[in-house]
Amino acid sequence: MTASLDLTFTLNGDAKTARVAPNTLLIDFLREACQLRGTKRSCDMQICGACTVLVDDRPVSSCTTLAADIDGAVVTTIEGLGGPDGLDPVQQAFLDHNALQCGFCTPGFILSVKALLHANPAPSHEEIVEHLNGNLCRCTGYHKIIDAVESLVRP
Ligand code: FES
Ligand code: FES
Repeated sequence: MTASLDLTFTLNGDAKTARVAPNTLLIDFLREACQLRGTKRSCDMQICGACTVLVDDRPVSSCTTLAADIDGAVVTTIEGLGGPDGLDPVQQAFLDHNALQCGFCTPGFILSVKALLHANPAPSHEEIVEHLNGNLCRCTGYHKIIDAVESLVRP
């Protein structure tokens, strides 16, 4: 039996330590060990984007990432956005533009948009569409999601 791994990382702004099995997936670690259920599971194949979280400001599919890979990293889940003073601007833009219906895909979309705007604060329409092609939504038809992102680029 392989020994467990000790991790030190930052999760939603808080310093954390944890012990995990080497084969623990990040999505299971977040949803079960950390009880952060905003990270959604759907395809389990790095296709739908529902499980997207940020690791060092980059979007990763937590369904195909090992928890061991966050050692030393800064991790952000949807629970890390917004706070008592209000929603994160990306969350607010989605709300203002009716860019969600059932909401299942929304945490993954919002974190992907956070990563995009962190890397490129003024993406073109084409760059937004290209960046979000790894996030699938069965409800909105995408136009309102793109409108929400463009409102943050060109208010
Ligand atoms: S559940 Fe991870 S990409 Fe779909
Ligand atoms: S809002 Fe329902 S899947 Fe996107």
